[in-house]
Amino acid sequence: MINPSVVLTGIRQVKIEDRPVPSIPDPHFVKIAVKKTGCCHSDVLYFEQFQCGSFVVKKPMVLGHESSGIVVEVGDAVKNLKVGDRVACEPGVPSRYSQEYKRGIYNLCPEMIFAATPPIDGTLCRYYCLPEDFCVKLADNVSLEEGAVFEPLSVAVHSCKLADIKFGDRVVVMGAGTIGLLVAMVAKAFGATEILIIDIIDQKLKFAKETLKVVTHTYNSKNDRNLKPEEILEAQLKAFDNKRATVALDCTGIPPCISAAIQLLEGRGRYIQVGMGPSHINNFPIGAVNEKELMIRGSFRYGPDDYATSALLIAEGKVDVKPLITHRYKFEDVVKAYEALESGEAIKVMVDGPEGPDDN
Ligand SMILES: NC(=O)c1ccc[n+]([C@@H]2O[C@H](COP(=O)([O-])OP(=O)(O)OC[C@H]3O[C@@H](n4cnc5c(N)ncnc54)[C@H](O)[C@@H]3O)[C@@H](O)[C@H]2O)c1
Ligand SMILES: [Zn+2]
Repeated sequence: MINPSVVLTGIRQVKIEDRPVPSIPDPHFVKIAVKKTGCCHSDVLYFEQFQCGSFVVKKPMVLGHESSGIVVEVGDAVKNLKVGDRVACEPGVPSRYSQEYKRGIYNLCPEMIFAATPPIDGTLCRYYCLPEDFCVKLADNVSLEEGAVFEPLSVAVHSCKLADIKFGDRVVVMGAGTIGLLVAMVAKAFGATEILIIDIIDQKLKFAKETLKVVTHTYNSKNDRNLKPEEILEAQLKAFDNKRATVALDCTGIPPCISAAIQLLEGRGRYIQVGMGPSHINNFPIGAVNEKELMIRGSFRYGPDDYATSALLIAEGKVDVKPLITHRYKFEDVVKAYEALESGEAIKVMVDGPEGPDDN
């Protein structure tokens, strides 16, 4: 096969197909040989349900959006990349003519072309083309695996920038999944002095505190979808020496987590919605928002400079994502990667490019 590609053809049905080799569509584009691709929640949702939120797969689609690789061809107008460069791929390209692009919020562009978001094909293939400014060159001390983690890391960077996290902040993170852990790492790198992470699985909390050493406190809110805001507040006050949090970020999308996180904040606290759950929720604590002048903000993917910040955080050793990579699979074993995520035992799962694991 010249361009083997991981194609989702139905619920739990994946096959490796030879797709045409893409040609560079514009002189500003480069062609990348994909070497590493991380798998996440959205891949598993497409695999299990043929849809993720409101995005429904209508025809077979190539999966994958968290990739890194090596430049194999450059368009005539490319200035900053050359053949052989190792890059992290930013998988969403906005319209350069949209109002959102002009306003500097290109992640909100309604015409965004985003890898593995139907009907757009993803990056789990041998060759993928991107504009050169959506590729971030990896520093010599950064591996291709780390480059593939730039994607979820940039989600965390974007949310921590929106929260304006800085030295002295007391931060609560709801959820110790990949995104919650990365948010905690970035919050620490941005200067947060105390971080409490909340989850329902002790093993994840232990990993955050003892292995990653990224949080100062943990709390198990138990397997309770009706978790009580007063208990979360009590745990938070205990953790932060009787002071309320200055920032809370929900990385679960679960309504009671959202409600509890908003209610524990101090006056003028900042709340960021990172987790994606139901589009509407009941019992939203609007009174607390009003009476405490809270700042409530959504966070969607990543925008200007977020990938560049991720690149610096890793190259400068401010964030170490390597311990998050718990499982690795060959290209042709991609289904095992989704199954590892489904089992709940994996954090970040990496899939090799079709050439195999030789490049790191
Ligand atoms: N805003 C964005 O652009 C963006 C990008 C990527 C992912 N996301 C969203 O971020 C969220 C997290 O993604 P992830 O990949 O880390 O998922 P994940 O499933 O790995 O993590 C979710 C964590 O929440 C924990 N959890 C479940 N119920 C809980 C409860 N009642 N209280 C406390 N913790 C609980 C789980 O144990 C798990 O550790 C998802 O909703 C995902 O859709 C948002
Ligand atoms: Zn992802």
